[in-house]
Amino acid sequence: MAIIKATENDKQEFDSAINELKEYFSSLAVRKGRPLTYNVLTYGCQLNESDSEKLSGMLSSMGLIQSEGGELDAADVIAFNTCSIRENADRHLFGNLGVFKALKKNDRDVIIAVGGCMMKVPENVDRIKKSYPYVDLVFDPQQIHKFPVLLRDAIRKDKQLVNIAADDYIAEDSFFPIDRKRKFRALVPIMYGCNNFCTYCIVPYARGRERSRSFDEIVRELSDLAANGYKEIMLLGQNVNSYKGEDGKTFADILRAASDFKEFSRVRFMSSHPKDLSDEVIDIMGTRPNVEKHLHLAMQSGSDKVLKEMNRPYTIDRFLEISEKFRTKVEGGSLTTDIIVGFPGETEEDFQATLDAVNKAKFDAAFTFQYSARPGTKAAAFENQIPQDVVTERFGRLTELTNKYSEESNKNLVGKTLEVLIEGISKAGDMTFSGRTITNHLVNFTIPEELGIDPGDDFLEGKLCEVRIDRARPYSVDGVLVSMKGE
Ligand code: SAH
Ligand code: SF4
Ligand code: F3S
Repeated sequence: MAIIKATENDKQEFDSAINELKEYFSSLAVRKGRPLTYNVLTYGCQLNESDSEKLSGMLSSMGLIQSEGGELDAADVIAFNTCSIRENADRHLFGNLGVFKALKKNDRDVIIAVGGCMMKVPENVDRIKKSYPYVDLVFDPQQIHKFPVLLRDAIRKDKQLVNIAADDYIAEDSFFPIDRKRKFRALVPIMYGCNNFCTYCIVPYARGRERSRSFDEIVRELSDLAANGYKEIMLLGQNVNSYKGEDGKTFADILRAASDFKEFSRVRFMSSHPKDLSDEVIDIMGTRPNVEKHLHLAMQSGSDKVLKEMNRPYTIDRFLEISEKFRTKVEGGSLTTDIIVGFPGETEEDFQATLDAVNKAKFDAAFTFQYSARPGTKAAAFENQIPQDVVTERFGRLTELTNKYSEESNKNLVGKTLEVLIEGISKAGDMTFSGRTITNHLVNFTIPEELGIDPGDDFLEGKLCEVRIDRARPYSVDGVLVSMKGE
């Protein structure tokens, strides 16, 4: 499969499609007598979040405004950015597409576009072709820089347009207008795709081969972000630490370059693969104050046999050795993981090995998943698929154990006063604020009136403050603001 860099030619086509669509939508708005809106529905991981910021940026450049209602809000352009990591992710799309059928029936000008990882699974595209004729456009998640051109063509053609290509593209972020969702946090993809082919995983099929952005371009983007007031940088990639830039630049070089910008209070990254995690990266995490002291490292299983079947190239001893190194070198750091339960052939003994490994690693948090067979992956064809009741029972035991350790991790914070980066009003909607520590612990806190801070003002977002932690919950801690930190 070829990897093609988006060219100046692509950029010209991109700009001209955006201009044409701007004119088209502007006359449609006159005809409708109101401004036109868009709704981008995002599923899946932060790479999809990042792509959606680009889709939103493109749609804004076409003169549309973001709809303000909930997820299923009606809009003039509805774009689905799908995820295919587990089966229930797929169900979301088809359920929600049905919701928009009536909308499209009443208004032929409404446009429905579907992209994202699900569209790299041929069965899903066939199903849209067959049963969802009112979808106007199916676009390739590896070629979102072609979105405006395809959207224009779909409108011109007035018939369903499906464009899924075999090539892996790379387009620098500077190619796109980007509407960043949070004014303090910037998602910065540094590499795309995955070469690891874990046997259960759809990502290498959906996202193609690994391709890294240019080091110089990334640093230029970081410098713009610093100048524009961003406080938190999230470096993204399916295997962020297998980044390979020009002149032998590595992920450690990117991490150092990002943390050199003192404007950034937090430099974070997702996701690391155990095989690519260098000592250098651990050293940087232990020594640079604005680099997050949090490592997310997927273990997947505690059994060497299962790891081998999963095509994860490490033993559990090696994994625990890396965890130990992190714990020693990054004082007070937090370690989180992903674990799959019920992989084909997993015996009770294998599962016990996973519980043992959790007891050793004492993860500060864990995302636990029930194995979901993905069409097209190797493991989907394995014999010995585990019956659902066994999976459910093991899953219950595992989450009980991982919850115990995450609550313990939260309890260790009680009584301490910690630096928190404020993310905004907490979801509870009761004027409680939320933010994160440098170890990525979620903190909900109140602001005492006597501090004279106007909590209604969103100027707090992205600021650093000190919070005294006084209560631990399973997934978060509660506290009280002590003081704001100076700029
Ligand atoms: N590249 C990242 C993982 C991205 S996917 C890494 O390797 O760390 C996020 C998580 O989803 C994986 O770590 C895995 O635990 C889970 N996952 C992936 N495919 C799955 C499947 N078919 N069934 C259940 N969980 C799955
Ligand atoms: Fe999937 Fe494995 Fe690649 Fe992670 S490393 S995205 S789990 S194939
Ligand atoms: Fe899902 Fe694709 Fe991300 S499958 S998890 S959206 S890379």
